Amino acid sequence: MTDDVRLVVVGAGLIGQRHARLIQQEAGVSLCTVVDPAEAGRAFAEGQGVPWYPAIDQMLAAEKPDGVVIATPNQMHVEHGLAVIASGAPALVEKPIADSVAAAEILVTAAEAAGVPLLVGHHRRHNPLIQRAKAVVEAGQLGRLVSVHGFFWLYKPDDYFDVEWRQQAGAGPVLINLIHDLDLLRYLCGEIVSVQAMASNAVRGFAVEDTAAAVLRFENGALGTINASDTAVAPWSWEQTSGENLAYPRTDQPCYMIGGTHGSLSLPRCEVWTNTGARSWWEPLHASRVHAPDADPLVLQIAHFRAVIRDSAAPLVSGREGLRTLQVVEALTRSAAEGVPVAIPG
Ligand SMILES: NC(=O)c1ccc[n+]([C@@H]2O[C@H](COP(=O)([O-])OP(=O)(O)OC[C@H]3O[C@@H](n4cnc5c(N)ncnc54)[C@H](O)[C@@H]3O)[C@@H](O)[C@H]2O)c1
Repeated sequence: MTDDVRLVVVGAGLIGQRHARLIQQEAGVSLCTVVDPAEAGRAFAEGQGVPWYPAIDQMLAAEKPDGVVIATPNQMHVEHGLAVIASGAPALVEKPIADSVAAAEILVTAAEAAGVPLLVGHHRRHNPLIQRAKAVVEAGQLGRLVSVHGFFWLYKPDDYFDVEWRQQAGAGPVLINLIHDLDLLRYLCGEIVSVQAMASNAVRGFAVEDTAAAVLRFENGALGTINASDTAVAPWSWEQTSGENLAYPRTDQPCYMIGGTHGSLSLPRCEVWTNTGARSWWEPLHASRVHAPDADPLVLQIAHFRAVIRDSAAPLVSGREGLRTLQVVEALTRSAAEGVPVAIPG
């Protein structure tokens, strides 16, 4: 008799396979089946030694999993999420929670009405470094937050865009990448209440943006800037600085700076800068580093999902949190398209 939580992975593509493999490796969880209509999905399930289903409904009719990881394309998250919730099983839905705020609201409302936990795959929040950074902010070490800056600059190789959908609107750095940065900034610095943005496709000339910049207003009065480009050769992105995913060569550079009235924090080095004496531009500054163990947040996210299923934790990123982050992304996209600031309703 095992105490393992039995998990299904729906969608065995890039990220689904990573989830499935780590579920196979980690203690306390086991992979009970894989759902994916593609032949490659069937082959993957066979390679993992677990049963395969071509469709989620067939799987739910035949199996009774403890939890389901939904790693299908964005536009299927709501359909698959609703099916899982109707079965009563908690779901871990990859980010973005849905392909639109309106669709995400349907999923979140259904989960809340059914009392079934929904965890959204903003996995970076599970990184111990982010947990330490949040503790620094919440302990008041920075004083009152004043200003925040986030970078997502890197170069996606040209063949990345050989796949047709990656050239289309909605497939660019804002929805695919910046959504992670915006989620972290919300988590660390508080709610974002309005956005003013611009986007450009001047370099690659695809329908999708290659560069975007935005000014953010936080509920606590702080302002922020966030700047994304997947066509800049540069070392300043969470991907290339955090060491979270070893597929990216690591640089020892910052990508987020959080400024407060009594100190500032740079990430991912997690350096807190304060005056050694009185607060003044004439006084020397001192940096003290907060250390956190290197850990794969995808692994920690699965361990957390197990705790959610076992009822010993509330989701760190609930459906409503995933919805709010998507609202910020949609506001940013709308602001860039219409050239106006966009408020995000509370
Ligand atoms: N958290 C992260 O850092 C991260 C990273 C990558 C992708 N993602 C998210 O994960 C999701 C999947 O992205 P990906 O890059 O793995 O895509 P992908 O195209 O590599 O994989 C999607 C898989 O879903 C399968 N699929 C299609 N229709 C299906 C259906 N009806 N039922 C079951 N499976 C079906 C496809 O055959 C494919 O294997 C997206 O929402 C993406 O935004 C998150």
